[in-house]
Amino acid sequence: MIDATVPGDKSIAHRFLILSTLADGDSILSGVPASLDVLRTIACLRSLGADIENGGGGVVRVSGPSRWRSPSAPLDCGNSGTTARLLTGLLAGLGVEAELTGDESLMRRPMDRVVYPLQAMGARVSYAGLPDRLPLRAEERASGGLRTLRYRPRVSSAQVRAALLLAALTGRVDLEIVDRLRPRDHTERILRSMGAPVTTEPVTTGDRITFPAASWGGRLEPLNALVPGDLSSAAFLVVASLLTDTDLRVRSVGLNPTRDGFVSLLETMGAAIEVSETGTEAGEPVGDVLVRSSTLQPFSIDENLVPQLIDEVPALAVLASRIDGVSVVRGAGELRVKESDRLTLLASNLQALGVRCEELPDGLEIRGTADPLTGTVRTGGDHRIAMAFAALGTAPGCTIEVDEPGCVDVSFPGFWEALSHLVKDEETR
Ligand code: S3P
Repeated sequence: MIDATVPGDKSIAHRFLILSTLADGDSILSGVPASLDVLRTIACLRSLGADIENGGGGVVRVSGPSRWRSPSAPLDCGNSGTTARLLTGLLAGLGVEAELTGDESLMRRPMDRVVYPLQAMGARVSYAGLPDRLPLRAEERASGGLRTLRYRPRVSSAQVRAALLLAALTGRVDLEIVDRLRPRDHTERILRSMGAPVTTEPVTTGDRITFPAASWGGRLEPLNALVPGDLSSAAFLVVASLLTDTDLRVRSVGLNPTRDGFVSLLETMGAAIEVSETGTEAGEPVGDVLVRSSTLQPFSIDENLVPQLIDEVPALAVLASRIDGVSVVRGAGELRVKESDRLTLLASNLQALGVRCEELPDGLEIRGTADPLTGTVRTGGDHRIAMAFAALGTAPGCTIEVDEPGCVDVSFPGFWEALSHLVKDEETR
């Protein structure tokens, strides 16, 4: 049995950091990952005047509430969509003037999904270059402030929810979101744990979220919390362990039910996977995941399940390539606007390695093979494509290289060591 840990959850870390800058007092966060995306959020918040002390070893002190200022240079969100979209919501609500930009990949990703509803709230957010793309400019608030928003997002996205909740919180306006699907609800949970009256109520396949921020006179309590390990990062180690028949336990990962579709899908595929909850952090369940050598059946993912495992599709796709039968992913068109077009990159790389894989407009159809797979994978600089194919490369008979191994640092610094530890232990058993 191999024991592993993974860096702190990126989605939760961004939210802990941003919300702590708004809290009434000092927050102490531990387990904050040194992943490049999270470091971008810290750097951007500091440029905006936040007092954040990175004590090393994942411990970060945030002194709230921040005294905001307009930064002298554009805020560079790097590769991080969560940083860009959440900060757009924050700036819109605060009415602080700033420009947001990012790397080449981020500049290709859509921003209308947050800009449109923020403009509907009365925020002065506009594009500094091309429509629907970074760079984007937030301006000082117009007199009269923001107005109440009742919104049905066209794209079901946790980043959209978070951006609107941040704008409502800082702009002190009421918000209601009725979402067709159920993406990760970290912002809602963390806000509740800090004392904000955010409610979530299930409606058919989605949720209704309400936040009466205009009449809420309360203070946001500081956080004293540990960022749980990132289940999305653990997924690559779990896939490598299944491909190499190695028993693996990943300790202290986030088990938020809106994020655990990977685990429940593996269960339906016949995987011997056990989850034991050990506690909660700021409303987020945490626990260990244990997986044992298993014979797997092919899977089928539909639109309703996609939000619960959106970031795990690359890991699942490579796993499918080694499972006898045809696995299908549908309703996952959003994967085309992640750090890369993940559907195209998954399909083209699997095909180049010799796997029968069909790219669908909103998904993939993958026929598993036991043939040896050899080649170099084109990652497009996408961390999850790199880690997925690296995991596939651990399968017996497969020799796979990735063209940009360094891109994993966006979410999982230490990934290559963690993977080689798993494989080495398996070889010496
Ligand atoms: C994230 C939400 C997801 C996910 C991304 C992180 C977040 O995207 O793919 O990696 O932290 O809010 P959506 O906003 O499209 O749900």
